[in-house]
Amino acid sequence: MIQTRRQLILEILLNIIKMSQILIIKNKIKKFNKTILVSGDKSLSIRWVLLASQAIGKSKSYNLLMSEDVLAALDCIKRLGIKVNIRKGHCEIIGNGINGFKYKKNLVLNAKNSGTLGRLLLGLLIKSPQKIKLIGDKSLSKRDFSRVTLPLSKFGAKFYYKTNNKLPLTILGSQSVKGIQYLEDKGSAQCKSSIMLAAINALGTTSIKARKSRNHSELLFKYLKIPIKIRKTKKYDFINIEKPKKIKAFNYKIPGDISSSAFFMVLTTLSTNSKLLIKGVNINSSRIGIIIILKKMGAKILLKNQRNYRGEKISDILIKSSNNLKSINCPSELNSSAIDEFLIIFLAAAKAKGISYFKDIAELNQKESPRLKWGSKILNMMGIKTELTKNSIKIYGQPDLKITKSITIKNYLKDHRVFMMSTIAALTFGGQWKIHDKDSINTSFPSFLKIIKKIKNKSL
Ligand code: S3P
Repeated sequence: MIQTRRQLILEILLNIIKMSQILIIKNKIKKFNKTILVSGDKSLSIRWVLLASQAIGKSKSYNLLMSEDVLAALDCIKRLGIKVNIRKGHCEIIGNGINGFKYKKNLVLNAKNSGTLGRLLLGLLIKSPQKIKLIGDKSLSKRDFSRVTLPLSKFGAKFYYKTNNKLPLTILGSQSVKGIQYLEDKGSAQCKSSIMLAAINALGTTSIKARKSRNHSELLFKYLKIPIKIRKTKKYDFINIEKPKKIKAFNYKIPGDISSSAFFMVLTTLSTNSKLLIKGVNINSSRIGIIIILKKMGAKILLKNQRNYRGEKISDILIKSSNNLKSINCPSELNSSAIDEFLIIFLAAAKAKGISYFKDIAELNQKESPRLKWGSKILNMMGIKTELTKNSIKIYGQPDLKITKSITIKNYLKDHRVFMMSTIAALTFGGQWKIHDKDSINTSFPSFLKIIKKIKNKSL
């Protein structure tokens, strides 16, 4: 009897928690004119944590993204014996030098939701003298890890899986690590960076032939004076890396994340008579697919106050509403520079006149959720026709679409970008939306809903 009452109370509590995790949107956003800041870039935040862990002495970062993915990175290096201090306004990492990890037997590291963390971290562990187990959350445990463990095995590291190529896995490093030759043919910066991090432990040269993808690791290696040579051709980058003697501690101010900004670019583009200035965003040319694609569709986007920071390009971005977007036949050369932005780009295509076509994007189904499928599913729920294949989507835009029905979004593996796309869809197309798992935004952009509130409040 007591047990049953307890169970009942527990059930009620769980339901209350579940309900509080549902975002309800019933009205479109009114016109606005605002200036915002988005939080720090996720790719750079994780790279700073991992590289600072290999430096000698105290590195500091400012504007480090304090999201679950980055906190998981800090937790992993702490478990590997690296000291981390989170201070007011900055974060400190006190490294012990290259491969200076100190840890006990049976270590378990949890990459949680982050493919970037899980895959890059393995690169740093190829000399681990003891077995280390790597685990992740439900979403990460569905993703392929052979894309990094196959090339990392060439360095001599051993990997043991329970289930084929999926987490959890165990790594055992090798003590005689020599440089390898590696062809990265997916356009994956995670794979490229994992091998680059392994290369700082390897004697001799590691040579990577990589399809174009984001180049933050290369820019950081150059800034840190890690011996790196890069030759670029139209399709591939040829990267040679030598083992550095040491890495000096370094301070870094993380710029705003263009992938987070993307949601607000589309929010403004699809709203009426509105204007938004996003300050201090990283506009690295390997990341600006979203700007190029939206501009091709007729969006009004202006880059202001451009400056350089340690090889990265930073800018303020001014966006104005646009009421006549046109469809796009998206060139696949832009895919890698917009890889995390396709969901929100699909939403712009839903509002554009004509049929948009995105091809060679099978990689989207390898993300936190099968995003190509989810993008299509949400558009269909909104009343937009799509034609989906394994690696492409056609979107039949409806510039005058006004949603009046109810739409519920749930069971999407808590993919942060599915949540944010749905929120922007609700605010720009109307309808009554119930979007489950609000806390999914904590992965990459915990302040997303606060910024939405700020934009909504003092409308013009
Ligand atoms: C990332 C690379 C991309 C991207 C991910 C972050 C990185 O993944 O989707 O969100 O920081 O290197 P792939 O390299 O697997 O395409």
